[in-house]
Amino acid sequence: MLEGYPKQITLPDGSKVTLRPMTRDDQYSLYSFFANLDPEDRRFLRNVVTDRKLIEKWTRNLNYDNVLPILAEFAGRIVANATLHYQTFGWGRHVAEIRVTVAPEFQGRRLGAALIEELSRLAAAHNVKKLLARIVTNRQGVISAFEKAGFSQMTVLKNYVKDVYNSQYADIALMVKELQPSTSQ
Ligand SMILES: CC(C)(COP(=O)(O)OP(=O)(O)OC[C@H]1O[C@@H](n2cnc3c(N)ncnc32)[C@H](O)[C@@H]1OP(=O)(O)O)[C@@H](O)C(=O)NCCC(=O)NCCS
Repeated sequence: MLEGYPKQITLPDGSKVTLRPMTRDDQYSLYSFFANLDPEDRRFLRNVVTDRKLIEKWTRNLNYDNVLPILAEFAGRIVANATLHYQTFGWGRHVAEIRVTVAPEFQGRRLGAALIEELSRLAAAHNVKKLLARIVTNRQGVISAFEKAGFSQMTVLKNYVKDVYNSQYADIALMVKELQPSTSQ
């Protein structure tokens, strides 16, 4: 299923970006990617991505059957990280969660949309039927990007998360995209 990587895609502005699964060699460049995000983009990510030990753990404990991280590279730098978190047991075996983060200079250039499409395809090939995204409701732009990628807002969990700077509670929208069965496995 991962045979097609590395894969080059061309954004509408002509930039050529390489997509490929994360490897253990990505530790330092992944840390730089997260460190260079806008602090507001980091505020409501699920993890404290400026924690070097966490990034080291992610890059060392890779298991693509549990979490599949696809990176986008441009000119030797990571410019986006998109992860697919499979639920491997129990009643949610047909569900996976998606998280996407795009570098500030690449936002609004359709890289996020391309990555959501890419992970939707990979998830469908893995027999996933429902793709979940958990987004804070006060990031309306992020909600719009996911809606345009085919997600619908199912419900909102009020005051459910606290930001990484430990100062604000926020509501979380549970957004789901129904996937069509894959034709190319
Ligand atoms: C959300 C995010 C992944 C979107 O990626 P992106 O590359 O900037 O989005 P794209 O350029 O692919 O845009 C896709 C569509 O969403 C729309 N969109 C993107 N950002 C938007 C914004 N801030 N406001 C309104 N619409 C927006 C685009 O206009 C585009 O619409 P179109 O299909 O009609 O052209 C990116 O902004 C990001 O990394 N945000 C910070 C991290 C984050 O919060 N991630 C979500 C956690 S799961």
